[in-house]
Amino acid sequence: MKLLVVGSGGREHAIAKKLLESPQVEQVFVAPGNDGMTLDGLDVLPIAISEHSKLIDFAKENDIAWSFIGPDDALAAGIVDDFNAAGLKAFGPSKLAAELEWSKDFAKEIMVKYGVPTAAYGTFSDFDQAKAYIEEQGAPIVVKADGLALGKGVVVAETVEQAVEAARDMLLDNKFGDSGARVVIEEFLDGEEFSLFAFVNGDSFYIMPTAQDHKRAYDGDKGPNTGGMGAYAPVPHLTDDLINQSIETIVKPVLKGMIAENRPYLGILYCGLIVTADGPKVIEFNARFGDPETQIILPRLTSDFAQNISDILDEVPTEVTWTDQGVTLGVVVASNGYPLDYEKGVVLPEKTDGDIITYYAGAKFDEKGQALLSNGGRVYMLVTTADTVKEAQEKIYSELKTQNTDGLFYRNDIGSKALGK
Ligand code: AMP
Ligand code: GLY
Repeated sequence: MKLLVVGSGGREHAIAKKLLESPQVEQVFVAPGNDGMTLDGLDVLPIAISEHSKLIDFAKENDIAWSFIGPDDALAAGIVDDFNAAGLKAFGPSKLAAELEWSKDFAKEIMVKYGVPTAAYGTFSDFDQAKAYIEEQGAPIVVKADGLALGKGVVVAETVEQAVEAARDMLLDNKFGDSGARVVIEEFLDGEEFSLFAFVNGDSFYIMPTAQDHKRAYDGDKGPNTGGMGAYAPVPHLTDDLINQSIETIVKPVLKGMIAENRPYLGILYCGLIVTADGPKVIEFNARFGDPETQIILPRLTSDFAQNISDILDEVPTEVTWTDQGVTLGVVVASNGYPLDYEKGVVLPEKTDGDIITYYAGAKFDEKGQALLSNGGRVYMLVTTADTVKEAQEKIYSELKTQNTDGLFYRNDIGSKALGK
């Protein structure tokens, strides 16, 4: 069969590469993809993710069995609804089901209604009321833009003044556009964060290995928030009990709730969780795979990925299996300056082969189609599997030392939390 993946980053590279490994899959197209993906035999298409009707025409004309939707903004724009209306299958939630991600207020309402543990909160569109709530609750406190804000709409405020300023930026000064027209203000939760992903259709689901992202730009969790600078899976110190508790108190009730709300969930549910003294609580839901978590989770999948997704789309039971070998760890290489302004056009090192995988995000061929150049904030990611976090780190970081990364940077401490550092 032939498949289509929508999106352009490292996440979509990992999804498409894994799908192509299936013996049943002859070709995987990625729209718009990036040139680095072609080194793995993937076909990239010059169609933007917002061009739903062009994507639909392509899928029809090329006999695409089904499409896998990567990014949140495509889901929020109703791409799955459009594919379905055209008689095409797509793996991802409908616009209404994806509201779990595109409105933090909606996610909170669902959690409260169906008893899912999360931080106490208030939602405001009026600045004076938001300010009064912040002053009443005190700091630390967390201010979040209601809508999608590319991961930048969350301010963890250490003082009341900072929180009021964040609310002012969002509600009065419109710094986050429409997504900040409402804010969710919530209790600060203290504890270790991790991500739990599941493949879902309705109330059936398949849990993936736990993962931990590194969102800050620099070592020691310093610097601005990014899309994610590296990750590893599974998180060794999370117990089975804690994972089971997360499934029972979070995954099951939210999926049941979505069915009760007439918004049955199909696709990947991404639970951003924090382990508090009262057990795991939800920081956020996302309606898609994480980036860079996908790149370190999917290499651990030992079952036929394309078969799994076909079965889940057809609502038939499927066998999803994972390796239990050690740990998979990946380090993102980004352009100097990311997540703010950065330069493009740096010549990239050769793609690694063997047991270190290179996934490309912002990469583009030069005019002659020979050298691969940087073309985005996050540029590529190296991923490996080893018996321990320490061994995986050694493999990746010694490879990175041999690469010319002038004009690029990466964190030197991905996974160190798992070593107690
Ligand atoms: P989000 O975009 O919702 O994932 O938030 C970004 C980051 O802000 C999270 O990864 C957490 O580190 C932090 N954060 C969000 N909500 C809270 C909370 N209620 N308490 C503590 N930290 C939070
Ligand atoms: N790694 C964070 C995200 O995908 O939102």
